[in-house]
Amino acid sequence: MEQEILKTLSQMNVKWAGKHVVYLDTVDSTNEYAKKLARDGGVHGLLVTADYQSGGKGRRGRSWVTPPGTAIAMSLILRPDLAPDRASMLTLAAGLAVAEAIRKVTGLPAMLKWPNDVVVNGKKVTGILTELSMKEGEIDYVVIGIGINVNLAEFPEELKGTATSLLLETGKPVDRTAVICGVMKEFETCYERFMEYGNLCGIRQDYEKILANKDQAVRVLEPGNEYTGVARGIDDLGQLLVEKEDGTQTKVFAGEVSVRGIYRYV
Ligand code: BTN
Repeated sequence: MEQEILKTLSQMNVKWAGKHVVYLDTVDSTNEYAKKLARDGGVHGLLVTADYQSGGKGRRGRSWVTPPGTAIAMSLILRPDLAPDRASMLTLAAGLAVAEAIRKVTGLPAMLKWPNDVVVNGKKVTGILTELSMKEGEIDYVVIGIGINVNLAEFPEELKGTATSLLLETGKPVDRTAVICGVMKEFETCYERFMEYGNLCGIRQDYEKILANKDQAVRVLEPGNEYTGVARGIDDLGQLLVEKEDGTQTKVFAGEVSVRGIYRYV
């Protein structure tokens, strides 16, 4: 599998994202594994991917299920020369890259649920967990963990309304290597366009084009502050622009805030 991924990446002229690949049959979490490698000097662009994750981690302390043979669990090590408070924007760049890759490989209309869930027909197909490590006030490394529901044929009852897979949406199995490599290729471009300015101004338009929340009613759940409005887009820092009912506009910073559709998941 390592060889197959490396071969496909070189055919696609990918320069650094996935230049080194570690493929594991089983791991607790590719993010944990990638962090270990990064602590031991793992280079920028090193990709860890696994067939089965026994302890996959989601955001907000939740778990993330990666059954064997059907999904993608991968984590990319980055060593950006970037102020630490800008690192969260990398997650939006990664979301855009995954959505674009899914569109190219499968033809599905993948969209983004702010900040970085990738959705198809209103249901989640991808989750991203970014972890940051600092040294002497600077970024030492960033691990971008990406979980994609590729060939999962069914979901537990409690997830059926909000989660889907590429298989369920296309009606046929999707080649995992093609998706992994497509994401690396797209991410390389998004990353470079992001790093050029250190903000999202170079990719913001592309992001907004496929932002599922755009012009949709959203409920913003900030600790101690809940309100409803209409999402209008993002700014260069990746904050969601929400027009409140009184006409004023607020900016929602990803962090601990949760944004939901009023009637459904998006
Ligand atoms: C979310 O909650 O939406 C984020 C899910 C992130 C899952 C991926 S799978 C690969 C990587 N390893 C992990 O343990 N988590 C991320």
